[in-house]
Amino acid sequence: MKSLTVTCLLVTVSAVFAKLHPLSDEFIDEINAKESTWKAGRNFEIGDYDLVKTIASGSLGIGDREPLTFTIHDESEDVPESFDSREAWPECADVIGLIRDQSRCGGCWALSAAEVMSDRICIHSNATKKLMVSSQDVLTCTSDFGCSGGNVDAPYKQWNSTGYVTGGLYNNSLQGCKSYFLPECDEHPTKCTDYVDAPSCVQQCDDTSLNYSQQYTYGLKHTWFSNEKQIQLELVKNGPVGSGIVVYEDFISYKSGIYQYVSGDFAGSHVIKIIGWGVENDVKYWIVANSWNERWGENGYFRIKRGNNECGIEHTAIAALPDFSRF
Ligand SMILES: *[C@@H]1O[C@H](CO)[C@@H](O)[C@H](O)[C@H]1NC(C)=O
Ligand SMILES: *[C@@H]1O[C@H](CO)[C@@H](O)[C@H](O)[C@H]1NC(C)=O
Ligand SMILES: *[C@@H]1O[C@H](CO)[C@@H](O)[C@H](O)[C@H]1NC(C)=O
Ligand SMILES: *[C@@H]1O[C@H](CO)[C@@H](O)[C@H](O)[C@H]1NC(C)=O
Repeated sequence: MKSLTVTCLLVTVSAVFAKLHPLSDEFIDEINAKESTWKAGRNFEIGDYDLVKTIASGSLGIGDREPLTFTIHDESEDVPESFDSREAWPECADVIGLIRDQSRCGGCWALSAAEVMSDRICIHSNATKKLMVSSQDVLTCTSDFGCSGGNVDAPYKQWNSTGYVTGGLYNNSLQGCKSYFLPECDEHPTKCTDYVDAPSCVQQCDDTSLNYSQQYTYGLKHTWFSNEKQIQLELVKNGPVGSGIVVYEDFISYKSGIYQYVSGDFAGSHVIKIIGWGVENDVKYWIVANSWNERWGENGYFRIKRGNNECGIEHTAIAALPDFSRF
């Protein structure tokens, strides 16, 4: 009896002192040993953990949401068992399926919004307009925010008021007005050192022969979706939606499968884009685009458990429609 007590104490003490590094092989093995619905592996170098935490913390909060629940769609409508926006709008699959890389900057809030806006411009113009909304413009020209994070709703408010110009990925001045200022984090596992601040807002296109004021796109007033069925109906009717998630340490090492929280501490609040859903071995999931490069997770995507508000994903979904009367 006595030795048992001692053993328990020792285990407790070592559990307190031996908190595994969130990117260590031991922590990854611990996740996989639990045989959850997903597999962990190395996505980032151990030495980059502080920066990884920063890029996983780009959400400062949801912003203003009153009231807290909404009923936008009639929930008695049926939805299919599975749905993928890339298949529903094949002529827009290249836009919807483009994985961006926020690189060394906590700009997920801006990238997610620029993705949702670009997807919906394509979808709602029947692919007659394939304009990419510039994540750089959202990142740098939305008041007070930048690489240290932004509110989930801030870009949608500004899309509705002053609008955003077009623009593509890093070094792609051929695609619209303003391209993203950082190259993707290179190598594998991802090498992504030295956090950078966003540059200030420049009211000029990379190609100075383009007229900046003619590059604007605009949105109608945004809408929130705060449960599974509302998000599903919105996806089917209007296309991808943005949403916030709480990031735990295990998520950073997600490789494949259907993510659900297994182990580790809170690591940040992040913004992503939901593009569809499905069911695998009786586990319901969302299909979600992340902005940590195509080398992360399932080719830049992850699947996450659906129906139980896993990591808050079903509470803070948001989207807006393009306002074609203004561009
Ligand atoms: C897209 O196509 C639908 C169905 O054909 C049509 O009702 C709608 O007006 C079209 N929208 C645009 C912007 O062309
Ligand atoms: C925002 O969108 C709504 C329609 O959804 C529109 O009535 C309003 O004028 C827009 N705001 C601005 C500044 O254009
Ligand atoms: C940027 O684009 C130019 C022109 O296409 C190319 O020469 C250069 O290598 C690119 N730089 C990077 C870092 O990709
Ligand atoms: C740019 O476009 C705006 C709006 O169409 C126009 O008023 C302005 O004269 C243009 N500027 C240049 C330099 O062409």
